[in-house]
Amino acid sequence: MNDERQDGVAGRPDERDGLRAARIERALQRAFHNPRSGGTPPRLAAAMRAAVFGGGGRLRPHLCLAVAQACGDDHPRLADAAAAAVELLHCASLVHDDLPSFDDASHRRGRPTVHRVFGEPAAILAGDALVVLAFEQLARLDAEPPGRILGVLRALGAGVGHAGGIIAGQAWELEPRADLARYHRAKTGALFEAAAVAGAVAAGADPAPWREAARALGEAYQVADDIADALADPDELGKAVQRDAELGRPSAFDRFGPRGALERLGALESRALAALPAVAGRGVVERLIRRSVARLLPAGRAAAAM
Ligand code: IPE
Ligand code: IPE
Ligand code: MG
Ligand code: MG
Repeated sequence: MNDERQDGVAGRPDERDGLRAARIERALQRAFHNPRSGGTPPRLAAAMRAAVFGGGGRLRPHLCLAVAQACGDDHPRLADAAAAAVELLHCASLVHDDLPSFDDASHRRGRPTVHRVFGEPAAILAGDALVVLAFEQLARLDAEPPGRILGVLRALGAGVGHAGGIIAGQAWELEPRADLARYHRAKTGALFEAAAVAGAVAAGADPAPWREAARALGEAYQVADDIADALADPDELGKAVQRDAELGRPSAFDRFGPRGALERLGALESRALAALPAVAGRGVVERLIRRSVARLLPAGRAAAAM
C-alpha cells in the first residue's frame, strides 16, 4: 500500500493524529508528575502549567512521534518523553520570547502571556524551570536504553543551544545585522530538526535521513509565521500581529514582500517534502509538513497577498 493511501488524504487529520495527540498530552502530564514537584512554590507551579497546557499546535512533538513511528517506535515510552521534552523546551522559549526585554508580547495562544499574568520574575523562572524539566524527565527514565537517551539529550541540546539553536536565534536579534536564513534556522529550524532527530534516535534509527526535511520545515514554518505576523487576524492567530515591524525584527515578509515571502515559503515546503526519506510511514510526516505550513496561512489570506 503506498503512503498516500495508507495515510488518507494528504493534509487531512486522521485517527492516528488523535492517538499521537493523546500520547503527547499524557507525556506532558507525566513530566509534571515528578516525585519532587510537590515542593514547587505555587506561583511558579501555576506559571509553568500555564505555559504548557491549554493551547498550542504541538507541532514539534507531533513531528517527533511521527518520525519515531516511521522508524518502528520500538521504545514508545522514550519517544513520548522525547516528544514531551521538545514541547517543554518550545514552551520555555515562548515564555522568554514574550518577556518585555524580548518581544514584549501581550497575548499567546489566545490568552495573556505568562509574565502578564504571573509577573516577570515568575515568567523568567518558569522558562528556566521548563528547560530543566525537559532534560530531567528524560534523565529519570530508568528502563530505556541509555545510549538512546544520551542521543536524544544531545539532539535537544543542539536544538536549543547557543551555537545554532534557539538561544543563538534569539541572540542574532542583538547583533547589528543578521542573515535571515541563519536567524530562522537557529530560532525555529533547529528545534524542528531536534524533534525529528530525537524521534528517530528514540526508535533506534539513524537520524541523518530526517535532518534536512525537518530543518527545511522549521524554516518554512518561520517564514509562514512572518507572513502571518504581517497579514493575519490577531484573534485567529492568538497573538498580537505586526510585531516584527514594530520591533524591527528581520522578517521574510519585510525582506521579500508578500509575493516573495510566499514563494520562499513554497520553495522551503517543497524542499522539506523532497528531502523526506523513502521509507514506509513517511506519509504521516508528509501530511504533518503540509498541515504545519497551512496552519498559519489560511488559503484565502495567502491568495489575497498575491
Ligand atoms: C510559535 O510557534 C513560535 C514560532 C516559531 C513561530 P507555534 O506556532 O508552533 O506556537 P504554538 O505552540 O502553536 O503556540
Ligand atoms: C520565534 O519567533 C520565537 C522563538 C524561537 C521562541 P517569533 O518571535 O516570531 O515567534 P512569535 O511570533 O512570538 O510566536
Ligand atoms: Mg515573538
Ligand atoms: Mg512571529
